[in-house]
Amino acid sequence: MKLSFATTIFQVIALASSSSAAESNTFKCLDADEVDYSKDYFPDKIEPTYSQLWEMTYHKTYKIFKNKVTDTSYALYQCGTELPDGVAEQHTDTIAVPLQDGIALSATTQVPQLEQLGLRRQITGYLGNPAYISSPCVSSLASGDDTKITPVYDDQQGFPNTAGTPKLDFIANNPDVMILKANDTGNNTVNWNAYVENGNKATYEWHKVMGAFFNLEKLANEQFQEIGDRYDCVNDNANYLLEHSTSTSRNLRTAEKEESMVEGDSERKLSELQKPKVLWATKIWNGPYWDVARCDEENEYYCEFATACASELLHSNDGSIENYYTPGDYHMTTEELKEFGKDADVWIIPGFIYGELSSVYSEFWGNFTDFKSVQNGQVYDVRAKGGNNWFESRVAEFDVVLQDFCEVVGLYDDSSVQHERQYFRKLLPVAEEPGDLGTCEDVDAQWESVASECTSLNGASSMNVIASVVISVISAFYLF
Ligand SMILES: *[C@@H]1O[C@H](CO)[C@@H](O)[C@H](O)[C@H]1NC(C)=O
Ligand SMILES: *[C@@H]1O[C@H](CO)[C@@H](O)[C@H](O)[C@H]1NC(C)=O
Ligand SMILES: *[C@@H]1O[C@H](CO)[C@@H](O)[C@H](O)[C@H]1NC(C)=O
Repeated sequence: MKLSFATTIFQVIALASSSSAAESNTFKCLDADEVDYSKDYFPDKIEPTYSQLWEMTYHKTYKIFKNKVTDTSYALYQCGTELPDGVAEQHTDTIAVPLQDGIALSATTQVPQLEQLGLRRQITGYLGNPAYISSPCVSSLASGDDTKITPVYDDQQGFPNTAGTPKLDFIANNPDVMILKANDTGNNTVNWNAYVENGNKATYEWHKVMGAFFNLEKLANEQFQEIGDRYDCVNDNANYLLEHSTSTSRNLRTAEKEESMVEGDSERKLSELQKPKVLWATKIWNGPYWDVARCDEENEYYCEFATACASELLHSNDGSIENYYTPGDYHMTTEELKEFGKDADVWIIPGFIYGELSSVYSEFWGNFTDFKSVQNGQVYDVRAKGGNNWFESRVAEFDVVLQDFCEVVGLYDDSSVQHERQYFRKLLPVAEEPGDLGTCEDVDAQWESVASECTSLNGASSMNVIASVVISVISAFYLF
């Protein structure tokens, strides 16, 4: 049978228009006259794998984000479409996506996520004082005469910026802005409770939700996958090194391994013996007492890092000084810490030390000079990169924190790629210079991971994770 040219063309067109899904999510508003309500406008979707506290469901022209912490839900409809009758009433709020007036943040931990997604310029407001933001590029957008990020005064927000624009004025000027807050409803306020999740992956998986506000599900999924894969690779390598450790000077426990081999310990006992011990403790700000890691209540992020680095985190709630702010939570006296922490191989102080440790802790120092960690110079704080970066970025860069952690306990493979610590700063014998985050060169520069490439040591599966996330041209599409 011979088809005429015209028929063929017609068939091709018919085929194309009968497909019921777009090829990718839409990064702009649709023309209301051209909406096809039978078509799936969100072929790129997200779902939680580790997070327990959110859900996203897809319904062709809209998606529903459910926050299980505050029991709220939001109908996020493709801009240019209308929600079917009766949907809006079932939800806390309705918001057009991709967001049309950007987003107002309320915690610095949200900042790196927007940077990763290539959306710095979509941050239009900050509830609180932007002086706490460390990211040079986002800080630059929040300062100067030509400020792009409005400091918003919200008296319900921690660290309020009383000099900021009152929240209702900000909303009136930006009627479609989405406001991220831990609680509260109304005026496109969406509750954001990532920090309530247990576990590093579960917490960071909210990144997918952040992407979904901008229809960037695909990119967010890719970033989550890459960062998670790198975390797993570093974790596997730490276990591998513990079992197969060759004598590198970095492996702190090598000497003991050889010693116990002479004594003829069994393999299993051997590896238990070798696990590096980590003290995670800092002085509380308002007294001569010590805040020490706890792993019992929930699997705290730092306990997970230690486990992933095949090491043992010393944790305890046995101090004799009750936490003034959290009854049931105890601090240690110096004498208690002295006994508790003396045998740790590494001491990580999850705080900022301004000066040499022996002078900052001068009134206690004599208690610590016999610590194994101090004797070996293995004491760190979290100022390697500078600013408040530890608080701001560690959630979104939990793969990098893990690389730092495994490196300081001596179970990081840097035979092919040297890892440069980004968080943990060595304090002994003399404190390394704290980092300087520098200035922003280009607000539109693509985000690049500072993680080191991880290559699996476990020969069989040789995974190569590329250090920098290559972000697709999507950010270029985002100029509306
Ligand atoms: C809302 O969240 C803030 C912390 O962001 C908290 O201090 C406040 O107590 C919360 N309010 C309610 C009503 O839960
Ligand atoms: C929403 O904003 C309007 C002004 O734009 C204000 O009158 C109203 O009280 C706000 N509602 C909430 C819940 O903040
Ligand atoms: C040990 O710490 C206590 C404070 O708890 C201090 O009074 C004492 O002087 C310290 N000891 C030495 C040897 O520095």
